[in-house]
Amino acid sequence: MSTHKTCMKLGTVLIIEDELHFRTYLQSIVKREFHYLTASSWSEAKSLLYENSIDIVLIDLRLPDLSGRNIAHNLLTNFPYELILFVITGYEDEWDREKALREGVTCYFIKGSFSPDELLVRMREATLQRERKRTTELGSRTLLKLYEFTNTLTSLDTLDRVMEAVIRMIQSVTGCMRISIMLLSEDGQYLFIKKAIGLEEEVVKTTRIKVGENVSGRAFSGRKIISSDGHGIDRRFFSYKEKGPFMSIPLQEVPYRKGKMPIGVINLTNRATDEGFLENEKKLLTYIANSASIAIKSELRKEALEKSAIDTLILLINVVEARDRYTRGHSIRVGEYAAEISRRLGFNEESVKEILYAGQLHDIGKIEVPDSILLKKGKLSHKEFEIMKRHPITSVRIVDHITYFQPITGSFLHHHERYDGKGYPDGIGDDEIEIGARILAVADAFDAMTSDRPYRGAMTRDQAKRILQSERGHQFDPQCVDVFLEYL
Ligand SMILES: [Fe+2]
Repeated sequence: MSTHKTCMKLGTVLIIEDELHFRTYLQSIVKREFHYLTASSWSEAKSLLYENSIDIVLIDLRLPDLSGRNIAHNLLTNFPYELILFVITGYEDEWDREKALREGVTCYFIKGSFSPDELLVRMREATLQRERKRTTELGSRTLLKLYEFTNTLTSLDTLDRVMEAVIRMIQSVTGCMRISIMLLSEDGQYLFIKKAIGLEEEVVKTTRIKVGENVSGRAFSGRKIISSDGHGIDRRFFSYKEKGPFMSIPLQEVPYRKGKMPIGVINLTNRATDEGFLENEKKLLTYIANSASIAIKSELRKEALEKSAIDTLILLINVVEARDRYTRGHSIRVGEYAAEISRRLGFNEESVKEILYAGQLHDIGKIEVPDSILLKKGKLSHKEFEIMKRHPITSVRIVDHITYFQPITGSFLHHHERYDGKGYPDGIGDDEIEIGARILAVADAFDAMTSDRPYRGAMTRDQAKRILQSERGHQFDPQCVDVFLEYL
């Protein structure tokens, strides 16, 4: 078994032939236009077939371990992608030409009765024909998908969902198993991975590509697709474990206008087969990147607006709390405690951030509670308490129009529910209460207990910890209490 690869070729040929002399002869012909691999038996050929990306198999019908006819049958019916099969035999009676061609063999040669050029011409034709077939399939198959994709994009309402749709679309038209969307960092210096499939979480988190460097950085700054053909000649592009063709597409509107930078790049690699990208595919991907960049840009703008709305609300609650020396800084601390609990419960960073904001804003509804009630020194009357009890509902009303909070409005609504079901406004208990609300309840209570109030002085941290412990499983979710005490 030997392998040999040189410069740009039409494809890769696997020669399965046990006779050394004839194998060498075939090699010398094939290598003029193709990469080649050789095997003298089925057991050798098998591993080569699955480890490499083979375009054409030249097969002898008499082999030491399995008949060429059986192998051909196997490859024509069971192989993961379409191979081109050439039979070259000295024993026509093993499998006659007519039958072989009928069963899917592309060419049938008798040893000693063909010229090197004849073989090469047929191999070239077969490769081109398969390429043409792929191009046509690409056209008819993808138009509808593309139409649906563009429609879908307009109906998606978060950045994450938009990027998910873009990645799925690209995967379905290219068969790439590793796709990432990179965006430009705020300082405009590097690209980071915002969403990916087929990549380890660690790689997603840590990858930073400087603008102008590496494949992605150059596709970005040059505003042009960079791709490799997948036949092993572009190894310099391969930073880690990529397989086969690689492509980096700038995320930009086409035709792009001068002075307008792309917003990022899309990288794709690890295609199911090692086939390089066709020109048509590049056009299609440019089109997808165009729609994607419009949708992503609009989501980024929406996110920025929402972020500023959240910041305004946080500012507002701080101003409200600052009027009152008893509640000054309360929401900020609740946010921090809640974030810590959620982190310890194993939430991902995105969810921790949501809880942090929810902690800071959970009491925003109190801005509708009159000061006479909010700042009252004595016990609240029944009527006053009923008004006070409305603040979680008001909080939800205020944050509800912010898409960011929509998945976690339950955390706002139920932060005064009790684990034993005796809280308000809905009197629900246990895991009927959203986890975010159970976390906030613990964080909120601890900060309230350890702060001065108009009607009592602050407890010590130890006293407050003892109360959390004794209310574990009654007022509070036991798990939330446990991780919080561990933190304290
Ligand atoms: Fe509250």
